[in-house]
Amino acid sequence: MTNKVNNNRRQFLQNSAFGAAALTAFPGMLFAQSSPLRTKPTPGFKADVEIEFISRDAYVPILKSGEETKVQKYYATLLKGPKKTLVELKGNYLGPIINYVKGQKVRIYYKNMMSEPSIIHWHGLHVPQDSDGHPMYTLEPGQSHIYEFEVMNNAGTSFYHSHSHNLTAEQVYSGLAGLITVTDDEEQKLDLPRGEYDLPFVIQDRTFNAQNQLQYLHGMHGKMTGFLGETILVNGLPNVEFSVKSRAYRFRAVNGSNSRIYKLGWDDGTPLTAIGTDAHLLPKPETRPYLMLAPGERIDLWLDFSGRSVGSELVMYSLPYEGAMPPMIEAKRLGKEAPAGMGMGGGMMGGGMMGMMSSGLGQGDKFPIATFKVTEKVSDSPKLPKSLGKFERLTERDVDNKNNPIPIGIDMKPMRPMLNGKSFSMNRVLDFEKVELGSIKKIKIFHDHGPMKMEEGEEMDKDMDMSGDKMNMGGGGGMGMMGGGMGGGMMFSMAHPIHLHGQQFQVLSREIEGMRQEEYKTVKDGFLDTGWKDTVLVMPGEEVVIAKPFQDYKGLFLYHCHNLEHEDLGMMRQFYIS
Ligand code: C2O
Ligand code: CU
Ligand code: CU
Repeated sequence: MTNKVNNNRRQFLQNSAFGAAALTAFPGMLFAQSSPLRTKPTPGFKADVEIEFISRDAYVPILKSGEETKVQKYYATLLKGPKKTLVELKGNYLGPIINYVKGQKVRIYYKNMMSEPSIIHWHGLHVPQDSDGHPMYTLEPGQSHIYEFEVMNNAGTSFYHSHSHNLTAEQVYSGLAGLITVTDDEEQKLDLPRGEYDLPFVIQDRTFNAQNQLQYLHGMHGKMTGFLGETILVNGLPNVEFSVKSRAYRFRAVNGSNSRIYKLGWDDGTPLTAIGTDAHLLPKPETRPYLMLAPGERIDLWLDFSGRSVGSELVMYSLPYEGAMPPMIEAKRLGKEAPAGMGMGGGMMGGGMMGMMSSGLGQGDKFPIATFKVTEKVSDSPKLPKSLGKFERLTERDVDNKNNPIPIGIDMKPMRPMLNGKSFSMNRVLDFEKVELGSIKKIKIFHDHGPMKMEEGEEMDKDMDMSGDKMNMGGGGGMGMMGGGMGGGMMFSMAHPIHLHGQQFQVLSREIEGMRQEEYKTVKDGFLDTGWKDTVLVMPGEEVVIAKPFQDYKGLFLYHCHNLEHEDLGMMRQFYIS
């Protein structure tokens, strides 16, 4: 692999709660092979669907006038299978929509035709390790890999995106993403909106320069809190207006943004109804005043325009909320005093924090996402079902480690976001990251605010590019201030959408502690924890306990923050299922 992928970051050995847990190198076999890539179809695997995928640079007309925008784009050709398997979104950087049916056997030939490494991950699909797009399968320019899997998922919405470590954020930003739907017999029995009434709703934010080209962040400052764009795109386009009939629709909302969290809600206060979350239908529809949608999450919305007159217009907003960003940034954004002990004036950290602020649209600001215009009156519409089918509720009784949950400690030490005190390492797992095949585990996701401590002789990674910067950690002033009062990580405490590969999980509990509970009130009614999830937003001060099955496939499965800047900075680990 090139240096770009395998950039040999030094581990930041930390004296955290997990420091004592042994790091185990992998059972050699997995890595002994010179390349894990599959270059020939497996003879015994009879595919129902075969797709050829490429990724390459492209120019697309995103903005109405002026130059086309340079993007990276997935192109796909259906070699075998039902015609509706691939639906192209015209004039767009998003890859085609892939429509699967549960039980289909799928073979995908992917060739990376870009000038940098890449690999595709099917976010939400429960597939074997060698078809999951683990970064160890990262393809050099010109290389290919064959994915082979059976669609095991029930009906629901997933998506696919690039997953080459250290390049994920910028490649997804540049366009490498697309929507996946799965249907099954159970869903077909329900009277849900279909065909032209079942639509994608992929929400992303981008920043364009005067030449219509995408601007991304470079350097450390913005990455610590994540990229926030100034222009909201829906299905790859700005200022989107949907013409709808006076009936019910299914809109498959996907947050494909790098780090922006949306609080979906109507301008007129009408509540929102959801029928599905990450890759599954809910047990029954849920109606809320607003719905939170963090990067990586999906919500299948039931938007009913029946009874609305022709000509009426509704605007879907991201409504204002608070508490997702570190306290100082929130204070600045809202024009408030910084909380005690976190003043802006003193200390180098204060100065550095200011450098992280993005101009324009802040995290939690209010803005419109899309307009829905009723253009036609119709009399028939599906009715919202009372129940959405079979659902197996997981409880503490189903897990085999009730009193000993696997920790996922969110560790936001400056300037190194980590999980369980460690950065991502391609070929290591901690003891508690080893899981027996077939088990269901209780996992506790929490904020691990230990004091900042560097091992002796350790230095910052070069790629952090901190030298001569305001964030210079060498100065005693900054460090002292962080150590004082609140504990190192608290100052950087922010919201993290935590995603686990493989099967979906269920949320058992959510608890909030500490000083950010007022802010929490602005988001708490928007969490949809009643169904299956694969990504869960963890707010500052929050502890989220989940139950996750580890069934069917052995191997390495990632878990990480889906704030893609955090992920690339190393806020990613993996389970080894054996
Ligand atoms: Cu959508 Cu591992 O990510
Ligand atoms: Cu994923
Ligand atoms: Cu994060």
